[in-house]
Amino acid sequence: MEKKLYPGTLRRLRSNAVIRSLINPLKLSHQSFILPIFVEENLQSPRPIQNMESVFVQTIETIIQRIENAILSGVNKFLLFPIPAVKKVIPDDFSFAFDTVVKIKAHFGDTIWLATDICLCSYTSHGHCGIMNHQKTEVLNQESVEILSTYAVLLAKAGADCLAPSDMMDSRIKAIRDKLINSNLGYKTIMSYSAKFSSQFYGPFRDACHSSPNEGSTLHDRKSYQLSPFNPEQALLAALRDESEGADIIMVKPAGLYADIIASLKERILTPIAAYHVSGEYAAIEILSERGIVDRSKAHMEVWASLQRSGASIIISYEAEKAKEWIENYEY
Ligand code: PBG
Repeated sequence: MEKKLYPGTLRRLRSNAVIRSLINPLKLSHQSFILPIFVEENLQSPRPIQNMESVFVQTIETIIQRIENAILSGVNKFLLFPIPAVKKVIPDDFSFAFDTVVKIKAHFGDTIWLATDICLCSYTSHGHCGIMNHQKTEVLNQESVEILSTYAVLLAKAGADCLAPSDMMDSRIKAIRDKLINSNLGYKTIMSYSAKFSSQFYGPFRDACHSSPNEGSTLHDRKSYQLSPFNPEQALLAALRDESEGADIIMVKPAGLYADIIASLKERILTPIAAYHVSGEYAAIEILSERGIVDRSKAHMEVWASLQRSGASIIISYEAEKAKEWIENYEY
């Protein structure tokens, strides 16, 4: 077929899928993906998460099969969210999370990489990510860091490969790193939710973990510890601090709405950057695709491309299991 393109046109390199797949400088790999997984204590059978019906909270029995299926789809990195049966003002029982990690690692060993979320919001009766003062008006930094770092070391002892603190207290990375080293677990990695914004897009996740701030306190949002969408400088400061305190991976979350943060971090740090495409962002694509406005797989691919362009080398996605198939079959 005769092609009539003007000299100097950029369209020569976009004229068909074969040439596009050759010259695109960015290529995704399913190996860059982490799949979030949820396990709830005393749950009888897996339950779907509201507004993200293809994602299920697992029981301690079903989690092994769940991971096996994911491995078959090409995923071997996981971010675990344990949901305890009992919530307290000051959490003191982390045995369910410990047992879950032991069970998973006993089964899969080093064939998988297991990161565990480190936060208190699914443990506390008030739903905050840390310990509150007696009047329940504020979240206390040092008291929270003390418990969070103890919890992190416990899960490292259980066999977690990576600890991923999402609480947003100050100096928790240093506390966790110090305690890991003192327990001869200094080789464990820390993935810090450094640039975690106070966002509207965590809704389905909070439903799944029963972890919204509630009437148990007079503080009804997480703005005193999570970052403001209007303050990019604090995100950079938090990331730089966490890197210097011993974090191995720096996370930005939500992902798509904060691609600018990923890009500016990329210029300033050499630590790998992970982007967490969160539950609300995922649900938005679900709803758009249900209404026929977008094609699900192509919409996810487009988001993933934007995260990669911004500078994220790791993507945390509820669709991680589809990454291999979608990337292989994508028509560039
Ligand atoms: C816990 C935590 C949250 C998410 C990950 N860890 C929610 C929150 O901060 O309220 C959100 C993940 C998602 O929405 O997919 N602190």
